[in-house]
Amino acid sequence: MSRGRFVVFEGIDASGKSTQARRVADERAARFTFEPGDTPLGVDLRRWLLDASAPMSPVTESLLMLADRSHHAATVIEPTLAAGDSVVSDRYWASSIAYQGYGRGVDLALLRAATELAIGACQPDVTILLDIPVEVADERRLRDHRDRFESADVAFHERVRAGYLELAAADPAHWRVIDGAGDYETVSVAIEAVLAEIGWPGG
Ligand code: TYD
Repeated sequence: MSRGRFVVFEGIDASGKSTQARRVADERAARFTFEPGDTPLGVDLRRWLLDASAPMSPVTESLLMLADRSHHAATVIEPTLAAGDSVVSDRYWASSIAYQGYGRGVDLALLRAATELAIGACQPDVTILLDIPVEVADERRLRDHRDRFESADVAFHERVRAGYLELAAADPAHWRVIDGAGDYETVSVAIEAVLAEIGWPGG
């Protein structure tokens, strides 16, 4: 049996990636999943990770994200791909490099090593970055009820965005950058072009 496809969507908060990831998965009957929190263990980790009233160090935050990811890869992503089904994930390892590494200043080399430990060889076929300016994301977001990350300052989100762009530029074979500031239809068309390019057109 051939292995399923594995596509990841990344971007800063309010980039529109969650809506697009769900659409792509629905149209292909693929398994939609997300990080952090799409396992029973992950539900508890997510609650702690997003709780703005429970401060933790950037390293603690990184290790909890990695614990979530390791469990997610082992119990959801890998088994689904091995069964021949495809997976579309809203966030994966690049979120840790962008948010905890570029955003919070955690050592990038150590984060990369820990990521390798967490996911082994479970790599996406392609990572689609929906890139939007921080001001556009800020306008899109509700201004109340912000979680720990959404309440971070503009400079933090600028570093995260720049981090994503660096990751994409460093590995063009596995990344595609799409302008996420356009309307839903325009972004959808651009995403479909990428998926057709990797041989996974919609139905
Ligand atoms: P998510 O549920 O994708 O929120 P949103 O839809 O608002 O983007 O992710 C929750 C938050 O967790 C988000 O602000 C990014 C952050 N995050 C990290 O900081 N590091 C990580 O490794 C992951 C997976 C998420």
